[in-house]
Amino acid sequence: MNLIWHHAMVVVVMAVTDGSSSGNGRWCSVKGGKIGNKRKKRWGMIRGGDDRIDKDNLGKLGVACGVGELGEALETAEEKRREEKRRDDHPLPMAEMTVKYGIIGVGMMGREHLINLHHLRNEGVAVVCIADPHLPSQQVALDLSQSFNWPLKVFPGHQELLESGLCDVVVVSTPNMTHYQILMDIINYPKPHHVLVEKPLCTTVMDCKKVVEAAKKRPEMLVQVGLEYRYMPPVAKLIEIVRDGALGHIKMVAIREHRFPFLVKVNNWNRFNCNSGGTLVEKCCHFFDLMRLFAGANPVCVMASGGVDVNHKDEIYDGKVPDIIDNAYVIVEFENGSRGMLDLCMFAEGSKNEQEISVVGDIGKGEAFVPESIVRLGTRLEGRDDVQTLKAEDDRIKYEGLHHGSSYLEHLNFLSAIRAKGIKAPAVDLHDGLVSVAMGVAAQLSIERGRFVTIKEVMNESKFNNLVS
Ligand SMILES: NC(=O)c1ccc[n+]([C@@H]2O[C@H](COP(=O)([O-])OP(=O)(O)OC[C@H]3O[C@@H](n4cnc5c(N)ncnc54)[C@H](O)[C@@H]3O)[C@@H](O)[C@H]2O)c1
Repeated sequence: MNLIWHHAMVVVVMAVTDGSSSGNGRWCSVKGGKIGNKRKKRWGMIRGGDDRIDKDNLGKLGVACGVGELGEALETAEEKRREEKRRDDHPLPMAEMTVKYGIIGVGMMGREHLINLHHLRNEGVAVVCIADPHLPSQQVALDLSQSFNWPLKVFPGHQELLESGLCDVVVVSTPNMTHYQILMDIINYPKPHHVLVEKPLCTTVMDCKKVVEAAKKRPEMLVQVGLEYRYMPPVAKLIEIVRDGALGHIKMVAIREHRFPFLVKVNNWNRFNCNSGGTLVEKCCHFFDLMRLFAGANPVCVMASGGVDVNHKDEIYDGKVPDIIDNAYVIVEFENGSRGMLDLCMFAEGSKNEQEISVVGDIGKGEAFVPESIVRLGTRLEGRDDVQTLKAEDDRIKYEGLHHGSSYLEHLNFLSAIRAKGIKAPAVDLHDGLVSVAMGVAAQLSIERGRFVTIKEVMNESKFNNLVS
């Protein structure tokens, strides 16, 4: 029976893997015609891991399979499903395999990491300590961890957390202006810790560069930057489509973020450029990172127009009115001749999607919509009538959270890099973090100076590194 099952699985795995680089998504064509057989096959694919093989799926995958074999396959799939359920209900003792995490900064995002890591508990992770000077943040995190049955050590600062020697991995989710010093202290600490640092890497290019240099001396440590939009299912699918060449050479990347204003943060740190790096660094480093990925090239220069037009104008903190811009257009030129454009509006609550991404190549056009979680795809040859609309899902996601499952996938990915013990690099590395900040700094400077700003300028000249102080 095992042999037959094994045979069936091999066929299925081959069929699933064909043409799909991620092999993790679940793709349903919602509307529209087809663009070539290869694409059609992938979009028709339903993947759910071994436990999701059913007759229908096998049929869709074109697998020749006798009734007996299928019955056995289904039986085994059912056993596997039951085993997984047992694991979910009664996690195995994994003491010696457990990867121990500490979280520095347990405000909104730190707690989001805590919850995500709890959803990964059956992968052998545990959060064992936190550091935060703000008592209310500590308390909410403690309440959460108690509800998870995770005993936590609480420290007022990152130095005490490092000195405790309790964890192997540190998540840095403190306000942006604190990232630099905290990262330098972690990197220079004798005991190595792997680090997942929230975006933006730092608030200035100079600080990012110092972190990159310091980390080069600690090759035993993995440092991943939290540019997690890459993992949102529709975005990940569009990245895959572009990488597969379905759109040809990418010429234009347009990213629109239309959303609500910045939320209230602990001590209102995000209201001032000197703390956040400026809106185009703080928030838009995500989009500059995506633009660079889609364009497949490094940025050369940036031109932007933006302002403080609607939000936070009636707020005052210690006698000061917030100075963060709430809308902007940014144009980016890339080394390979492609162009990017960001359209940011933070007083657009009346928008169906928060992010709309359009990538156009010389063969076709792809679009991703968040949170609708839809991807559209068409070619110049087939025209409007054959534009495909696909629903993007990723069935590895066990917790959607605040960012459509991307934080969960980010952790899953980072954990696999940690477990690979240096064979695998972090998916989003320090260089990606640095370039995304440089693009944001160049955009902020362009608004201030009213001209194109080159990436070379912001990378090389330290006088631009404290622009937003
Ligand atoms: N990936 C994303 O999409 C995303 C979303 C939101 C926030 N973030 C990032 O996460 C980070 C935190 O943002 P947030 O929304 O959680 O802010 P927050 O204000 O809700 O929380 C920050 C927490 O850090 C604590 N803190 C401040 N200084 C500290 C220090 N030196 N050591 C330890 N703790 C300290 C504060 O007391 C607070 O509890 C920022 O870098 C932000 O840009 C990323």
